[in-house]
Amino acid sequence: MYKCLIKLSLHQRTAQGTGSRMAHGILGLLRPLQSRLSTSRTRLVLLCAVTEQHQSPARCWAERGFSSTHQDAPGESSSENQVTVHFINRDGERLTTTAKEGESLLEVVVNHNLAIDGFGACEGTLACSTCHLIFDKDTFQKLDAISDEELDMLDLAYGLTDTSRLGCQVCVKKWMDGLTVRVPMDVSDMRRQLEVGKQSKQ
Ligand code: FES
Repeated sequence: MYKCLIKLSLHQRTAQGTGSRMAHGILGLLRPLQSRLSTSRTRLVLLCAVTEQHQSPARCWAERGFSSTHQDAPGESSSENQVTVHFINRDGERLTTTAKEGESLLEVVVNHNLAIDGFGACEGTLACSTCHLIFDKDTFQKLDAISDEELDMLDLAYGLTDTSRLGCQVCVKKWMDGLTVRVPMDVSDMRRQLEVGKQSKQ
């Protein structure tokens, strides 16, 4: 039953914002359970999500309306929808590649085999935060709105900044041509932390 309550609260927050009275009421019901499990609300939601192996499609897949395995037909991809993106890796190395409009930054890294260690471990299902990227302030302000689910996951990322986002949730747009993003020094894989937590309780 608690799984249903958690899901309901999450959906409520998504639909009406964190200030909704109903969501607070439901979260109030969850509090006794939360304290019994000695875990934060965010971790509770994540635990539920990981346990049920909930697969949230990356935002860009939904926007494009087709799968990430889609291949351009010959001649379909033109330089018009190509965008140059620079990743500053942990060691300071600049990795430059050409992305397609509509790809997520996770797909850009994967499709071009960019050597960023551990990046995108959950394949864009919002369960790991290993795709954490840091943007410059101007670019950050122009990005699409951030979802509650992404915010929850970002809260658990190491080296969080005011201009942090998850690469699997940021879609490449034409205006991003020349974009530079920084890969934070440390990476946190939430799924592994949950595993460690489970084992230490046994
Ligand atoms: Fe796991 Fe983005 S790839 S949260």
